[in-house]
Amino acid sequence: MCGIVTAIARRNIVPVLLEGLRKLEYRGYDSAGLAVLKTEGTPELTRLRAVGRVAELAAQADATQLSANIGIAHTRWATHGVPSERNAHPHISGGLAVVHNGIIENFEELRSKLQAKGYAFTSETDTEAIAHLLHDKLKTIPDLFDAVRATIAELVGAYAIGVLTEADPSRAIVARKGSPLLLGIGEDGHYAASDTAALLQVTRKVVYLEDGDVAELTLDSYRVTLQDGTPVERPVNISSLSADAVELGKYRHYMQKEIFEQPQALANTLEIIAGGGGISPQIFGAEAVDVLKATRRVLILACGTSYHSGFTARYWLESVAKIPCTVEIASEYRYRESVPDADTLVVVISQSGETADTLAALKHAKSLGMTKTLAICNVPESAIVRESALRLITRAGPEIGVASTKAFTTQLAALALLTLALSKINGHLSAEQEAGYLNQLRHLPVAVAKVLELEPEIEKWAQRFAGKHHALFLGRGSHWPIAMEGALKLKEISYIHAESYAAGELKHGPLALVDKDMPVIAVAPADELLEKLKSNLQEVRARGGELYVFADAGSEIPESEGVHILHMPEHYGMLSPILHVIPLQLLSYHAALVKGTDVDKPRNLAKSVTVE
Ligand code: G6P
Repeated sequence: MCGIVTAIARRNIVPVLLEGLRKLEYRGYDSAGLAVLKTEGTPELTRLRAVGRVAELAAQADATQLSANIGIAHTRWATHGVPSERNAHPHISGGLAVVHNGIIENFEELRSKLQAKGYAFTSETDTEAIAHLLHDKLKTIPDLFDAVRATIAELVGAYAIGVLTEADPSRAIVARKGSPLLLGIGEDGHYAASDTAALLQVTRKVVYLEDGDVAELTLDSYRVTLQDGTPVERPVNISSLSADAVELGKYRHYMQKEIFEQPQALANTLEIIAGGGGISPQIFGAEAVDVLKATRRVLILACGTSYHSGFTARYWLESVAKIPCTVEIASEYRYRESVPDADTLVVVISQSGETADTLAALKHAKSLGMTKTLAICNVPESAIVRESALRLITRAGPEIGVASTKAFTTQLAALALLTLALSKINGHLSAEQEAGYLNQLRHLPVAVAKVLELEPEIEKWAQRFAGKHHALFLGRGSHWPIAMEGALKLKEISYIHAESYAAGELKHGPLALVDKDMPVIAVAPADELLEKLKSNLQEVRARGGELYVFADAGSEIPESEGVHILHMPEHYGMLSPILHVIPLQLLSYHAALVKGTDVDKPRNLAKSVTVE
């Protein structure tokens, strides 16, 4: 979703802004723009905007040999108004320019007021209202910092903004509420961006802004205050993110890189159990023992792929830890009238830790009195982690591909640890069982690496698949969410319409769709539901449907006409879903390659969904 970069430095900041935008591309966008102040002579605002890729914006900057010491830049993911140059940021009012990530809910009201004052709107965006509002404020509040504070006081909704003005070229102002924003402290100036990856090119020293913070950046200093002007100190962190972690290296796409990083991502996430000891609740935080002991139910809230990891964990939590568990899509939960329960552990799962609906669902649960909260998240400094009492940080490393892969499997690893911790605390885990599960978890990276070796076979399947318009994914039990995740992956990046069903539901509707043009993908581990699944597969074959079956050791499904089998090396018990999702990730990746779609930046989608 929209990304922001701001820079003021003793160097030409145009390349910094453009490189920053390139690093934010993964968030998803459909247009890009920047505004700089040329400070030689009279400060003059120059704006460039382009629909499509940052490369187009960079070409414009090259053509005009743009150079400046202060500027703001933006990638836009359309919310209010179509993707077009007119709607691309920055938006200008008089000599000032604004970039914005988020949604201003009262923008229609603001627009009417500003129009009544004579402001003409040239775009359909909510952001333009911020630019005109600030312009209006500057008439009575000449100080830019104070005028920004007065402006944001009137905004309802979520925002991260960057502002500069011809009238005061010595500083850029940024502010955030609800959308991510951090400052970068450089050797030669100061920077701000929506995430750290955009700033690693200039600094590792970062300051995470809190909701409601306003910051002023000059060449030599920065300061942060609350909206009311009260100065606040925010800690300076040294980012441990390596620049390599966000480089493509030998891979063609980030999604491919991230699929193949899974053994390492899992090893890193599971390092907490690398020692010889047993599972300890403390891995979720110092207060976790008491919280887990008092937990009678679990409520999991998440979106997208993270929802699927939660849905998988439900099977584990109920069957192994014997704890009732519900899993709910965050955007539904936050607006539904539900019955709160103080003994429930609320688990929020998010790769980014910034997903607006998940964050709002967490806050909603807390407002209902459910204060036992646990975040399973890949970004330690994120809003969701900060908002939760307990946390387990997955160590997948930065995930750039819009289609989530390594975040998903590491979330599952973390949820397996939660399952074991709750089982143990409730007396449902013998020492022998605990040792068995821990061994399996420690061996998981190796097991995943073996599954990745199946890529050439899966590539062949993808060739046959890519010409199809629809696909049906089937699974049962804890592999039903894996079928859901497989279908999501395929539709996200190859645009093949894919649906998933619990295989037992086949005859209650989807069987009507099955014919020779509808490939049916079955997740078929050798578990207690295999025989049931086999009957469901017969139903498909009898209607001429072509089957692509992901079996594992012991599944014993024979290959025959119209029944293609991929044999996974081993059956992995409770953790089998973690292995079974890997070939589905590879299948969608290769189907997308054959179709020639933009794998890492699928149309219309965003990586980090920071608006509702
Ligand atoms: C977007 C991404 C998905 C992701 C979902 C939830 O839709 O494209 O890949 O699963 O958001 O994101 P989160 O960061 O909360 O896991």
